[in-house]
Amino acid sequence: MFQKFQEKWKVGPAQLFIILLTFALGGTLTGMIGRRIMNLIPVDGIVWVIIYIMVMTLIWPLMVIVVSIPMGQFVFFRNYLARIADRFTRKQNNLPVSPNLNSPSTLVPSSTEKSSPVNLAIFASGTGTNARKIMEHFANHPYIKVALVISNKPAAGVLDVAKDFGIPTFLIEKEEFFRGHSYIPLFREIGIDFIVLAGFLWKIPPALVAAYPSRMINIHPALLPKYGGKGMYGRFVHEAVIAAGEKESGITIHFVDEQYDHGSTIYQATCPVEAGDTPDSLAGKIHLLEHEHFPRVVEEAILSQLVKNH
Ligand code: GRF
Repeated sequence: MFQKFQEKWKVGPAQLFIILLTFALGGTLTGMIGRRIMNLIPVDGIVWVIIYIMVMTLIWPLMVIVVSIPMGQFVFFRNYLARIADRFTRKQNNLPVSPNLNSPSTLVPSSTEKSSPVNLAIFASGTGTNARKIMEHFANHPYIKVALVISNKPAAGVLDVAKDFGIPTFLIEKEEFFRGHSYIPLFREIGIDFIVLAGFLWKIPPALVAAYPSRMINIHPALLPKYGGKGMYGRFVHEAVIAAGEKESGITIHFVDEQYDHGSTIYQATCPVEAGDTPDSLAGKIHLLEHEHFPRVVEEAILSQLVKNH
């Protein structure tokens, strides 16, 4: 049984012991605090039982998280609870739970089994309309395959989009991404050749940028170098463009470097900013441009890298 948990959670025996201890202490604390709370509530009978169950259900995750901090297991439990919440919300929406979520062993064929020369990973934090266009574009491509979709948010819509296309998904953890190995060994193991950021809100750590030189592309919803940088994403960009009285906005597709929205530009397309435009209407125009150009530009960038390397 312990072996099964180790495999499921991908932990060693020592960490498994600490995790189980955390569960036990969190449960004990939940019982103690739960009873104290119930003493303050003047009900009995079936109502008492119902409220007791509700109180326990609400405070259990909190207690486990609290105990996990001194036990050094905060990251594990944060992700554990996020996965439970994710499963719950998916069930509520009648969506199947991704069997691939955070199971690297089931991700994609290793590079030795690759059926296409270029494996693409899409990083996204949101709805994933651009990611969808890219998946559609490469669905039957002879040389390029979307092999993996990565997100930092368990409830990101892009994970459902990936599922529609049967593409494996992977949820990354902040700690490992910024202070660990940034998943570079994993990406190497599964043969990721190229990365596309399609609405990914975390900054890419320098080591990962260095691991994919000229092989990581981002799309920004404005004409860089204006309206880029930290905090400039989504609505904030369009608000700033309108507030500045710009007559034109657009999209910038660029290579990723160590600074936000800074690497060399590959392609730009423009659209007018008209009187009466709101951040939402401008976002709509920008999305149309993105959907029209992004997949093609990604394809051209990948193919030109392939040509360079042969
Ligand atoms: C796009 O506007 C893109 O420019 C920005 O994030 C947004 C992602 O939108 N980087 P969606 O999730 O693809 O609809």
